[in-house]
Amino acid sequence: MTHAAASAQRSQVADPGPDPTGAGAPNAAFDGRPGILDRRGRALRDLRISVTDRCNFRCTYCMPAEVFGRDYAFLPHSEVLTYEEIRRLAEIAVELGVRKLRITGGEPLVRKELPDLVAMLAELRTPDGDPVDLTLTTNGSALRSLARPLAEAGLGRITVSLDSLDDATFRRMNGVDFPVSRVLDSIAAAREAGLSPIKVNMVVKRGENEASIVPMARWARDEGLVLRFIEYMDVGTANGWRLDDVVSAAEIVGAIHAELPLEPAAPSYRGEVAGRWRYRDGSGEIGVISSVTQPFCGDCTRARLSAEGKLYTCLFSAVGTDLRAPLRSGASDTDLRAVLERVWNARTDRYSELRTEATSHLPRVEMFALGG
Ligand code: GTP
Ligand code: 5AD
Ligand code: SF4
Ligand code: SF4
Repeated sequence: MTHAAASAQRSQVADPGPDPTGAGAPNAAFDGRPGILDRRGRALRDLRISVTDRCNFRCTYCMPAEVFGRDYAFLPHSEVLTYEEIRRLAEIAVELGVRKLRITGGEPLVRKELPDLVAMLAELRTPDGDPVDLTLTTNGSALRSLARPLAEAGLGRITVSLDSLDDATFRRMNGVDFPVSRVLDSIAAAREAGLSPIKVNMVVKRGENEASIVPMARWARDEGLVLRFIEYMDVGTANGWRLDDVVSAAEIVGAIHAELPLEPAAPSYRGEVAGRWRYRDGSGEIGVISSVTQPFCGDCTRARLSAEGKLYTCLFSAVGTDLRAPLRSGASDTDLRAVLERVWNARTDRYSELRTEATSHLPRVEMFALGG
């Protein structure tokens, strides 16, 4: 496939889909599996679960320290869903077709006893009887002690965020002077615990870490890690996003290709977020998440559950649907299932396809609050 063909394939805009089907009916229109469809014909396949809005980092592109200072009011404990409540909602989502559960935050590992939640979610089975794909995104500050308990509890794989191997650059970007060496040690701990594959997410922001693109690519290839470059996005409203600060997927791929030749690879599944590129010499692959320059809303199968129990159908949503109130006032599983179905069936989101400088100022929930 040529670069242009790969781009065209990834930026296709889905026609408004057929009428949403019920959960029991195989939806031949999307991927042939049972599940519900939204108004644009997209199935619900992934649920990203934020277990906390807190984080021990202050990344410049997510929770800039000037905005999220010591006095910032995070959610009180009583407003955060319990593990039992999360499990109940996740089970209903899996009945409706979800196959991947991703635990996120904030930083999920700051929540106490996280392996208990992992064990509860690892028991879930899809309608076909398969285990769910259970994974977690972390900043890698606390994996040395937690990688093994998480793996033993049933976590399959893991994604660690790391924006540079250059210590000064990384310390500046994480906003709390956290050293690279500790994230590298976390990755080693994840490997020792048998978590596989290990993916690494690098957000690329102009003027901050473009110089780290090629060194990170070389390192990840040598270490056998799947590195994904993420275009800097206008998530939330606190990071002062400007289009000029975005380093495009084409620039990223070009910089690597000039030193380590690449060729496009086909997506591994419908709705995959990252565009895949493999090294021509067979030594591995990279992913590029190009929400800004090549949006992938046409196949977006993701819903997000915030720590306070709101369901969001887009990373750029301004409002979510409260599931905590019904959960805590005796709603039955049938009632909760009806809410999820109604919300998904009504979904029309495609923010990244509509993005302009102007839309980046619209109100919306911060990424750490709704589950990155
Ligand atoms: P796997 O391929 O299953 O490992 O997961 P994934 O591609 O969903 O990866 P991950 O959850 O690590 O997502 C990587 C990053 O892509 C996120 O942290 C976001 O920055 C971005 N991202 C993920 N989902 C979306 C989405 O629905 N819309 C947009 N615009 N960006 C997304
Ligand atoms: N743009 C792109 N990616 C972001 N992330 C957080 N904020 C942004 C942003 N503004 C990424 C983090 C992490 C994941 C949870 O989301 O780096 O990998
Ligand atoms: Fe924390 Fe992740 Fe946001 Fe960085 S990107 S501040 S690690 S939640
Ligand atoms: Fe999905 Fe919204 Fe991201 Fe588009 S912008 S891919 S609809 S989460």
